Amino acid sequence: TRIVVLISGSGSNLQAIIDAVQAGDIQADICAVISNRPNVLGLERAEKAGITTVTLDHKEFESRDAYDAALMNKIESFTPDLVVLAGFMRILTPSLVQKFKGKMLNIHPSLLPKYQGLNTHQRAIDAGDSVHGVSVHFVTEELDGGPVIVQAKVDILPNDTADTLAQRVHQQEHIIYPLVVKWFSEQRLTMEAHYAVLDNKEL
Ligand code: GRF
Repeated sequence: TRIVVLISGSGSNLQAIIDAVQAGDIQADICAVISNRPNVLGLERAEKAGITTVTLDHKEFESRDAYDAALMNKIESFTPDLVVLAGFMRILTPSLVQKFKGKMLNIHPSLLPKYQGLNTHQRAIDAGDSVHGVSVHFVTEELDGGPVIVQAKVDILPNDTADTLAQRVHQQEHIIYPLVVKWFSEQRLTMEAHYAVLDNKEL
């Protein structure tokens, strides 16, 4: 399985996937890591692992369409089987999403369909929720709306701030994202019309 990972920042989820590949848990080749922001920690992590890195700075493009056209070409140049969004903080145009339909994953820090969009941890606290979490889903044109594959729950504690809660959510992210990538690379995971299907014979 050829994987391209898209990031915008620290890349701790990228690291979890790199670690799982290096440990032999995932049989895949991370062909490239593409960032829309220059000089982020995630690019350093990729370089350290000997992975090709690309910076495609959205500020150097006139429009979202122009950026996404360039991004699509760049991704395709690596002929990936799977595109993994790991903290890629940009909304993708429908044509790009369409291109990688059933082959693009995202991780979103909430129990979808709750709290699509930004500031999910604070919103869960403000709502008085007792449980929060994280979802891995297939990407479709609807922002944070594609079929959910796995969710992990995290209890909200009385003194939690967005930061303390985010830390515990991140621990779960680093467990479930490599797991889903592994399933995909074993060809056990597919996106049917509106849902994700897992062949769970060996779960
Ligand atoms: C994570 O919280 C993820 O859920 C969200 O962006 C963050 C990325 O963190 N989509 P990292 O760059 O993997 O450390």
